[in-house]
Amino acid sequence: MTSENKINLGNKPTIQSDSDSVTIIDNKTQKRFDLSVLSPTVGDRSIDIRKLYTEHQLLTYDPSYSSTASCDSKITYIDGERGVLLHRGYTIQDLASKSTFLEVAYLLLQGHLPNQNELSTFTNTITHHTMVHEQLQFFYRGFRRDAHPMSIMIGVVGALSAFYHDSTDISDPQQRMIASHRLIAKMPTIAAMAYKYSIGQPFVYPQNNLSYAANFLNMTFAVPAEEYKLNPVVVKAMDRIFILHADHEQNASTSTVRLAGSSGANPFACIAAGIACLWGPAHGGANEAVVNMLREIGDKKRIPEFIKKAKDKNSSFRLMGFGHRVYKNYDPRAAVLKESCHEVLNALGIRNQPLLELAMELERIALQDEYFVERKLFPNVDFYSGIILQAIGFPTSMFTVLFALARTVGWVAQWKEMVEDPSLRIGRPRQRYMGEPQRPYIPIEKR
Ligand code: CMC
Repeated sequence: MTSENKINLGNKPTIQSDSDSVTIIDNKTQKRFDLSVLSPTVGDRSIDIRKLYTEHQLLTYDPSYSSTASCDSKITYIDGERGVLLHRGYTIQDLASKSTFLEVAYLLLQGHLPNQNELSTFTNTITHHTMVHEQLQFFYRGFRRDAHPMSIMIGVVGALSAFYHDSTDISDPQQRMIASHRLIAKMPTIAAMAYKYSIGQPFVYPQNNLSYAANFLNMTFAVPAEEYKLNPVVVKAMDRIFILHADHEQNASTSTVRLAGSSGANPFACIAAGIACLWGPAHGGANEAVVNMLREIGDKKRIPEFIKKAKDKNSSFRLMGFGHRVYKNYDPRAAVLKESCHEVLNALGIRNQPLLELAMELERIALQDEYFVERKLFPNVDFYSGIILQAIGFPTSMFTVLFALARTVGWVAQWKEMVEDPSLRIGRPRQRYMGEPQRPYIPIEKR
């Protein structure tokens, strides 16, 4: 152990670290104990504190989990400082430019890129699970016409466990796999139905001759009265958006899915919990918030006013689509989406692109501003996605639904990985109790 690795934290325990262990000296009790340091295949090391409480009655304190590795995972790796995102070792740039969404889904679930046979079998399986039980449509009719589609998604996806009893036994590997396939396959159908219900149009059934993205677009935009022509550029852009949102390590919604699943809850219930978490504006709800913000800004001249507001500590306003807990560099997904924005808008013949121009100017000004530079705040995945989705024809209320649709693959892969880990125990954090110590009960007449 070298002296420069010794960190004296005053009255708090002192941590000394070398390559594979740290020693904590509790300055209050003068007790010393060694903790091992776990190395990943790549990335930051973690102090193994699993026995800290049982052996030393010490808890660790990390309310928003910034310094907590909650599990072992082989699915996704992020290097936030360098802006790197890998799925099973492949860069997001390679996957977004060379793979289809179903290939990436297979990769996340199975750990390797499928060969042609594996992909055909997987595609065939997913394609043949896209229909939902006919009774499920009655759930939609129970919602108000103006219900937010995310609220419908939470209800309907949770309700799947009431329909597919034969895939809720999580101890059966076959049932786990069928549930995973069902979730990936049915999510586009459920999302499109939420949209159709909100605009008062009839539901459109899935079509097995279409690709995953094309089928979703058809169920969303086709009407029985006329033929719907799929634009290949739009289909490709949709597929790419799905790839870019497929998984992102232990983010809030994925951790929610894992925590729910750790109790043994069925996968449909766990994914519904993930959708609920994703809805928040600090997470997946940001794509909707970005477009609303850009519309509110309205004109390039007003950008400085909004930048000022975002920096003002007395205002709760934040630049939506900016900043990330892990990325302290450009989010690689945002870079791909920015490029896609130009492609899609040009392909759709949209010459006048005020939102995109406004977004680019906002980015340019923010990235030169000391406040954003100092805090390493860069555009994240939500900054440019809404502009493409809007150009395709989605209302803003559907943006987070599309995120949920794509992220279902990651949630399912992470849930399966956890359930299949023999060391699984229920997730149960502790707390730093700051309330009243025990006190005598006061009868009501004396209070
Ligand atoms: N605008 C203005 N200031 C910001 C922003 C922003 N968008 N993001 C962070 N900051 C400031 C924050 O006020 C704080 O400043 P200070 O150190 O002076 O107190 C500093 O940067 C660090 O922020 P933080 O809140 O401690 O960071 P966090 O890791 O807890 O939050 C975040 C991450 C994504 C919730 C946050 O950056 C944010 O609210 N961004 C806007 C919402 C958004 O775009 N969310 C999508 C995230 S990516 C996709 C997804 O997860 O779904």
